[in-house]
Amino acid sequence: MKEWLKNSWYVIARACELTVETQPLKKKLLGQNLALFIDAAGKFSAVNDVCPHMGASLSLGCVKNGNLVCPYHHFGFASSGKCAEVPSIVAPGKIPSTLMVDSYPIVEKYGLLWVFMGDMPEDKRPPIVEVPEFDKPEFRSLYHDLTWRGSVRPMLENLIDFTHFSYLHAGTFGNGEHPFREDYTVKRGEYEVECTVKVKLNPDNWFFPPVPELGENPDVTVRCRYHVPTLVVNDFTVGKYTDVTLFTFTPIDDNEVLIRMFGCRNFDQNAVADTKLKNLGERILEEDRLVIESCVPEVLPRAIGVSVDKYLIAARNLYDKWLKAGNSVQDHVFETNRGTRLTILPSPVRANNETFGRSWKRREAQEKKTRKDKTTD
Ligand code: FES
Ligand SMILES: [Fe+2]
Repeated sequence: MKEWLKNSWYVIARACELTVETQPLKKKLLGQNLALFIDAAGKFSAVNDVCPHMGASLSLGCVKNGNLVCPYHHFGFASSGKCAEVPSIVAPGKIPSTLMVDSYPIVEKYGLLWVFMGDMPEDKRPPIVEVPEFDKPEFRSLYHDLTWRGSVRPMLENLIDFTHFSYLHAGTFGNGEHPFREDYTVKRGEYEVECTVKVKLNPDNWFFPPVPELGENPDVTVRCRYHVPTLVVNDFTVGKYTDVTLFTFTPIDDNEVLIRMFGCRNFDQNAVADTKLKNLGERILEEDRLVIESCVPEVLPRAIGVSVDKYLIAARNLYDKWLKAGNSVQDHVFETNRGTRLTILPSPVRANNETFGRSWKRREAQEKKTRKDKTTD
């Protein structure tokens, strides 16, 4: 948990997973359970999945009049997190103003639901990554997801690192005879680092249409972008053909990461090519998985980068900068009486209702003390 970032946008689901028929939807992210639902205005909503009344899981309930209704005593919560209905009390004025749940900003973009896990005010939040190709009609989309076991950072760094293509992926898209050696430059931004390199791909697994006008086995331009916290966009271009893949990482808990691959391309606009590309993508990630799941950089004094890793190192530094700025999830992890751990991150609601915010601050301080006492024992 120490390595995970709050105050960031994460993909929580595909938009098509949450409909009025499917709701409420339970999803886990950063060790926290969320209940997703659609409110009376048709707006996607995401709240902490622990009812403030007696702690029941809200996602076991239902949605009534646009409120998320707890299964236990039927208190209804609006998308703002406020308790809007308590059927067992007559006067609505008697609902305590602090009877509310953390409610997180959630938006739809590229057919995905993005949730902002943190309490940063709107004007300070990092933007969601821009991938304009997803909105262009000449690009066909392709989506799939898979779950990996292991810690987030080695997995994320694997997708940032293009220098392993020729070695680990010589059996799929990498070209073992032409490993990457070229120098390149890195562009560093506030939320993103980027580089563009030229690589040779494996002609036996060539996934673009033929480009004879560019000669035999032409260079492919790869534009690589890392966007905080766990987003990677890799564009492969040869001639007029481009294939873009957005990788999103959703850390579920300490051991599981859900990786979503969302691609689009301006060639081979048919279902047969979809299957072919999907299979190739899965074979590539399977080659990665075997090695990545073996990586234990945490036992090293320090993982040592070499000069060609400068893009990866810039991405690593950007992640660390966010972590050092107080965005670690760690301070918001609670131990349940069952010995399991649950994260409950502060949402913007806490700033809007001071009493509610203060009560959580006290609870977090208490948890910290208990943890410390346990370590001293
Ligand atoms: S525990 Fe949710 S309404 Fe009582
Ligand atoms: Fe790889």
